[in-house]
Order: sequence, then C-alpha cells, then structure tokens
Amino acid sequence: MNTEESKSNASVNSQFSILNSPAHEVSEARPTGRQSSILIQIKNLTKHFPIQRGFWSRTIGHVKALNGINLNIHQNEIIGIVGESGCGKSTLGKLILKLIEPTSGEVLYLNKNIFTIPEKELRALRKKLQMVFQNPYSSLNPRMKVFEIIKEPLIVHKIFNEKEQINNRIYELLKLVGLEKEHSTKYPHELSGGQRQRVAIARTLSLNPEFLVLDEPVSALDVSVQAQILNLLLDLHKNLNLTYLFISHNLSVVSYIATQIAVMYLGHIVEIGPKEKIINNPKHPYTVALLSAAPRIEQRQEARGKRQEQAQHKRIILTGEIPDPSNPPSGCVFRTRCPIVKEKCSIEEPILTEYNGQLVACHYAGELVG
Ligand SMILES: Nc1ncnc2c1ncn2[C@@H]1O[C@H](COP(=O)(O)OP(=O)(O)OP(=O)(O)O)[C@@H](O)[C@H]1O
Ligand code: SF4
Ligand SMILES: [Mg+2]
Repeated sequence: MNTEESKSNASVNSQFSILNSPAHEVSEARPTGRQSSILIQIKNLTKHFPIQRGFWSRTIGHVKALNGINLNIHQNEIIGIVGESGCGKSTLGKLILKLIEPTSGEVLYLNKNIFTIPEKELRALRKKLQMVFQNPYSSLNPRMKVFEIIKEPLIVHKIFNEKEQINNRIYELLKLVGLEKEHSTKYPHELSGGQRQRVAIARTLSLNPEFLVLDEPVSALDVSVQAQILNLLLDLHKNLNLTYLFISHNLSVVSYIATQIAVMYLGHIVEIGPKEKIINNPKHPYTVALLSAAPRIEQRQEARGKRQEQAQHKRIILTGEIPDPSNPPSGCVFRTRCPIVKEKCSIEEPILTEYNGQLVACHYAGELVG
C-alpha cells in the first residue's frame, strides 16, 4: 500500500454502515438543499434505446432504460442514485450532461434546456457540468503523464495564456486532491487506484465545475481506499460549493455521502427523499429489501459509554430476475419481485406520492417493514 493510502483516517477501516456515517454530520452541518435554489430540473425524462437487428438494422424493439423521470437537484445538494445494475443510473447521468440525447423530456440547468440551447452556450455549460467515472484507469490516457492529463482541459478551453499560470493551477489542483507535485511526473500505471481516481477528480475540477456526476467513483477501489475518496469528495463539496449526483449500486456507500437518496428500479424512481427518512423509514418494498441487505449498525448508549452493536434485522431476499427492460411488467414495474404484491399492482401503475416528506411509488407504501 502507498504512503498516500496508508495515512491514518478514522473511517478508513470501517465498512460503510448505514446508521453510522459521517453524512449524518454532513447533512446536519449543511443545508439539505431543500431551502436552496434549484440548479437542475429534470422533467419527464425518457430514454428508450432502439434494438436493431439484421442487415438493414431494422428496429425490432426498445430498451426502456429511463421512463418519465422527474427530479429537482438543488444547489449544494448531494443526491445519491441507488439501484441494481441496469436500472438506468448511468443513462440518467449521461443525459444530465448531454452526453446522449433523450427520447423525450427536458433537463433544465438554471432554467435553460440543455437539449435546445445554442452550441455556443452549450460549450460554456460543459465547463460547469462534469463527470467522474468508475474506472480511473480507463478514463485516463495511459500514454500521458499526470501533468499532461490535468493540463489538457486547461489548454482545450484556453483557460490561461501564461505557462506559469498553467503550471501553478496544475500543482494547486494536485494539492486540492491530496497529491504531491512529484505525482505530476508519473504515468497512470505508476499510481495506485486511489491516486488515479484523485487525478481523475483533479482533471474534472480543472475547469471550476459547479455540478459533478460521480458514476460509481469508488466501486473499483479497495474498501479501505473507498473511504478516503469519499471523504475527499465530501471535503471538495464543502470547500468548492459543489453539487453532486452520486451514482452507486451500494446503498451503504450512498448513505455515507448523500443528503438526498433516489432509489431506482427498471428505469423508474420508486422512492426519493432526505437520506435520514429513506434510511430510517423506507416506504417502498424495494428500498426495504435493499436496506435489509446492507450493513446496518445501531448506536446504543451503554452505562459504560457509547458502544456500537450489530442489530438484527429481518433479511428480505428478493426472488426472481430483474425483468427485461424491453418488456417491462404491466402496472408496477417491481411487481414480479415484490413480497407484498396484490391484484391492483398489475393493473395500475403507482405514481410517486408524498408521504411525510418522501415520495414513494407504491399502492401499499409502508406496508412492508424490514
Ligand atoms: N447505448 C445503449 N444501447 C442500448 N442499450 C443501452 C445502452 N446504454 C444502456 N443501455 C441499456 O439501458 C439499461 C440501463 O443501462 P445503464 O447503463 O443506465 O444502467 P446502470 O443502472 O448504470 O447499470 P450498472 O449499475 O450496471 O452500471 C440497461 O438495460 C442497458 O443495457
Ligand atoms: S405497487 Fe404493489 S407491486 Fe409495486 S411495490 Fe407496491 S405493493 Fe409492490
Ligand atoms: Mg452504470
């Protein structure tokens, strides 16, 4: 392990436990975003990928990756998107950054529709909206040294004229992400996974973005390094006044960092709300099942002092396969795996409805308890 990664860190060796995460402090110390203004508004966003076959590439169906997503992302919020593989998390992130075009719907950035604004405005906007990917090794050019990797966006966007200004900015960015000047002379393969992700983050920050899509940014890293990168992201969020859309299949990781959580299933948001409400009082059967499978530690005040104890929770095992997104179930998309499915569920699609500050798409919200 590298020196950089062996630095002592209170959270490093702890697994991400849902009720024992610093994001509790984060959400108390910072605005949850509810009072702040809306940075990004997602309206009825849908993405259906065509399935093409044969010599003439005939369209024989569509993968319904996203279906009518509505979401407001407030300034300085960390919204965590969680759900199983293939539920549409990355598609949502790519659409918000206009890396792909939607089938229908809108994404408004400070009230401007990113799909219809003129090219010139879009170029300026691209600096504000950035993405960090899961695998820093494939997102960094292996033939470039760290210095060149971070320099590239500064040159492309003509941020500075003077060589000295560029150099200073590169060293400043390295420091910001916890790396030394010496790292600038290394190639990606000479760095550890954590260091590579730090370089990817430094490059992303080079253009002073306001909003980051973080798509599984720690999934490829060792658990011990994951905590360091998450803590770095929390520090940057606070110090640079950033807004994040944080994507992960791991609810524990999401709960560590997010202030709001949106749970996705088969291209739909099935539950969304403040982190504490989703974790402590999940109302959608899918969220209850996800939580029952995640590490969960409860704080207990003992006579001898504070102690943590592993709590016993009912484990809900979801049976059945995730349905084919090109042929989703009628009514509720979760009905083929739902432990409390009833007749109405196959007939009527549940819509997101408010229950005490969280939105839930279930006809029988709150009936399944973990
Ligand atoms: N370019 C594409 N063409 C066709 N189908 C696609 C394309 N991109 C994604 N899909 C499909 O859309 C659905 C959603 O994919 P997406 O990558 O958004 O899921 P995800 O939640 O990010 O999954 P993972 O956790 O595995 O990254 C999947 O069924 C996927 O196969
Ligand atoms: S609507 Fe029905 S099938 Fe869907 S989550 Fe609720 S109870 Fe389960
Ligand atoms: Mg993905």
